[in-house]
Amino acid sequence: MNLDRLYLDYNATSPLSPSVIDWLKSGDFVFANPSSQHTDGKSSRRQINEARDFILRCFGRSLSDTRLFFHSGATEAFHTIAHSFSETARLAGKELLICFSRIDHPAVTSLEGKYFGPHVKFLELVRGRDLRYAHETNLANLRDRKENSPELLILYHHLWVHNETGQVSALEELRPLRAIPDLTVHVDAVQAPGKVADWRNLSEGDVWSFSAHKFGALKGVGFTLSRSSVPFHPLILGGSQQSNQRSGTENVMGVISTHLALRDLQVVNVQKTQEERTALLNFFAAELAGGLGGVIDDGPAASNTIYFYLSGVTSDVALAVFDLAGIEISAGSACASGTARPSPVLLQRGLGAISRNGLRVSWSFTLTGEERVRIEDRFRAVFLRFRRA
Ligand SMILES: Cc1ncc(COP(=O)(O)O)c(C=O)c1O
Repeated sequence: MNLDRLYLDYNATSPLSPSVIDWLKSGDFVFANPSSQHTDGKSSRRQINEARDFILRCFGRSLSDTRLFFHSGATEAFHTIAHSFSETARLAGKELLICFSRIDHPAVTSLEGKYFGPHVKFLELVRGRDLRYAHETNLANLRDRKENSPELLILYHHLWVHNETGQVSALEELRPLRAIPDLTVHVDAVQAPGKVADWRNLSEGDVWSFSAHKFGALKGVGFTLSRSSVPFHPLILGGSQQSNQRSGTENVMGVISTHLALRDLQVVNVQKTQEERTALLNFFAAELAGGLGGVIDDGPAASNTIYFYLSGVTSDVALAVFDLAGIEISAGSACASGTARPSPVLLQRGLGAISRNGLRVSWSFTLTGEERVRIEDRFRAVFLRFRRA
């Protein structure tokens, strides 16, 4: 990696956390299969158990009320839980309604394209132009559905922190949903750790899914916490690993890196980073004023994300210009960087004319004032070039 480059694409994936780097440098590679009965296998199992204990403690939960399983990341988690609910409904001879919003991550919206069976239907949750959930409308729709079909099971997806805009939809907003029977909330918690002040407080919801590479672990590992009362049918069957929740040889290195990265995250001062974000947001707004572009900022947002657009430049062209200037940012959804498709976020915002122009800057959990000024200097030079062009 060229150290002179400015990596500002943390929402797509974050660099390895300091403790993960130290561990890898130490060469203490834990290779044995944790299902094996020999000493090395037992050592792997012990390290996985330590990681599990730490995660449960971190989120204030215990095995008495919570299930935990590791997977390859949140995409797998959303498909696993949807499959699980589809099975629960099918076996009980009931219908399942899967709810999501159009501006959710494709890991969730893609569920609609999958055929689970005739018993599974979908409902699009309404959001306003400010991208906020229209909770009253959604609640009324769900009440109606439930009245017409009392046996209906509902799987409701809630996006805690939006991957493009960083907009925060607090978990407390979910409280009125408790009034709807047979409704389970699956929280997309992928972008929350280290970016919202209360990221460890799973105050509402029933299932919460995380991708560990978003906060400094190795790629291809994540975990899901779920209330024990939520029924579960695994998507991946095989050797019964992880109490049959997700079969397949466990990803020991990934799990250890998750433990270390999550430990590093404990000292992050979200409030402090939030102050730097405010300063950076003001900088972007001032630079883009006068026709060059604008920022999209709708209320509480993650401490590390700013979404903006350039009026006359599509995101694929802009990305290339920024990249040539050594600035690594992204367009569109976090994992589809570099594409200039119309952004569902900008369309929802009523900004069809610039729907291909959205750009996202996302930085580390601990941005300092000095680092912010460096970012501003680099962007100022590129904005000047765009203005002249
Ligand atoms: C909000 C959100 N949900 C889900 C996902 C999917 O996570 P993964 O690609 O790790 O499976 C992402 C990835 O960017 C995301 O940002």
